[in-house]
Amino acid sequence: MKVIVRKTGLSSIPAQLLVLPMVVAKENGKFLPKCERELRALDKQFSGEITRQIKLQEYKAGAGKRLSVMVSQGTKLPVIRTIRLSGVGSEVDAKKNTQPDVWRKLGGDLYRQAKSTKAAQVALSLETTNISSHDKILQAVLEGAYLARYDYDKYKSKKTSAPQKIFQTLTIISQALTPRTAQLAQKQAEIIASAVCSARDLVNCPPSDLSPAQLVREAKRMAQGKGKKRLPLKVFNKKALERLGAGALLAVARGSAKDPYLLHLQFKPKRSRKRVILIGKGITFDSGGLSIKPGTGMEDMKCDMAGAAAVLSVMQALRQLDGANAVHHEVHGIIPIAENMVNEDSVKPGDVVWAMNNKSIEILNTDAEGRLILADALCYAKKLSGDVIIDLATLTGACVVALGSDYAGLFSNSEELTNALRKSGDEQGERLWPLPLASEYRGLMDSKIANIKNIGPGGPGAIIGALFLKDFVPEKVAWAHLDIAGPAFLKKDTDYSSFGGTGFGVRTLISYLQNL
Ligand code: BES
Ligand code: ZN
Ligand code: ZN
Repeated sequence: MKVIVRKTGLSSIPAQLLVLPMVVAKENGKFLPKCERELRALDKQFSGEITRQIKLQEYKAGAGKRLSVMVSQGTKLPVIRTIRLSGVGSEVDAKKNTQPDVWRKLGGDLYRQAKSTKAAQVALSLETTNISSHDKILQAVLEGAYLARYDYDKYKSKKTSAPQKIFQTLTIISQALTPRTAQLAQKQAEIIASAVCSARDLVNCPPSDLSPAQLVREAKRMAQGKGKKRLPLKVFNKKALERLGAGALLAVARGSAKDPYLLHLQFKPKRSRKRVILIGKGITFDSGGLSIKPGTGMEDMKCDMAGAAAVLSVMQALRQLDGANAVHHEVHGIIPIAENMVNEDSVKPGDVVWAMNNKSIEILNTDAEGRLILADALCYAKKLSGDVIIDLATLTGACVVALGSDYAGLFSNSEELTNALRKSGDEQGERLWPLPLASEYRGLMDSKIANIKNIGPGGPGAIIGALFLKDFVPEKVAWAHLDIAGPAFLKKDTDYSSFGGTGFGVRTLISYLQNL
């Protein structure tokens, strides 16, 4: 897809689909979609059809509110077939640029409209609003479009992906953009969207085709790059994990014929300021083990490596980002990988295992396996003496009950880290909601025979999961745990995501690292 910049000329745009962002402005005490001079001229050319439809459909142009105006052939503008009015919120919000995700959503809608109206040439005017930072907005729009274009059709004999003829050019009308700034925005959007789509591909892959060993292979592929762009990758296999004493990770994997792994990827820019450690839960399938899950919904447990997929994809993006978008911190990706299955050697409720730091864990529910493999990953991370540790895990169903699929739970021992992650999350449309690391509940995991039990007596499940991890977090490090069980895998289409893996966390982590 080619991006073309034009300074003016809304009325002579060679596009079948024209998208006009609508900002709500206060006029005569009423909130109305703001129609700038150029838009009014366009309306005139279409004999007032735009304003007629706005009135008829009582279109109010709030954020995410959209209206398609079909314009008939034979007018002075034979090329344009559809004008899509796309609400981006109030004038104040647009000026402050406080809602970047609104533009990502607009981009998702723009792509879906192009697909449904079979438009090869699409135009978007940024001059109908008085918003600033057109380059950031273009980036968000393109991210939305690329993400909406994602279609997992690997397992369909007849491919469902949109034909090449759709969305071939995007003409942007903007006084502020130059071809160069537009090109940079496009490159950045491509890197981000391709990282998110890599994570989605990994999550959507059927679990028998993404075993622990296959996930390692994917990690090797993603770490590859030319010359210095290659990310060093250490792979710890079962033998190496035994040597490390990773008893918790090994215990989870015992019920599967497939061996566990621990991956350590590194991104080391020339002059780095901080050292950040990202950890991602990599359970390639979670049957629950002997504490087996009910059949209904078990198929969703192929998503239990969404944290690992996000971390891998972030690492992949880090080696591609350059110039003003480069990350100037050392970043380590730690990924514990196992399959939680059942066989005659499965770990049993009542078993006690030793984590890498010689803490004993009484396993009372084999379905609380994520915290076990993360415990060893956190012990491993300790050796790296990082400034910040962030883990991403589809950890608890309780978090989905608490927050649904639009929010991830955010637990942290640092207010600064909480604020930074939430700011990035809001900008990126990946919302994080703080939940407490309530030390009052730690006693619920006291074990009669070991240092800790892997479950509490029920109750605040998401908090218990986070508190368990806290026992393995190195002291004095800023740590955040993102429970992404809700937003990692969706059962519905949204503006720029579709059924299945969402790649949740990828954009937030990249933005966090860029702003750190
Ligand atoms: N992988 C699940 C959590 C999950 C649930 C992820 C829904 C995605 C969607 C996790 O390993 C698990 O099974 N957790 C248990 C913990 C319980 C046994 C304390 C749960 O949430 O039921
Ligand atoms: Zn489980
Ligand atoms: Zn799990």
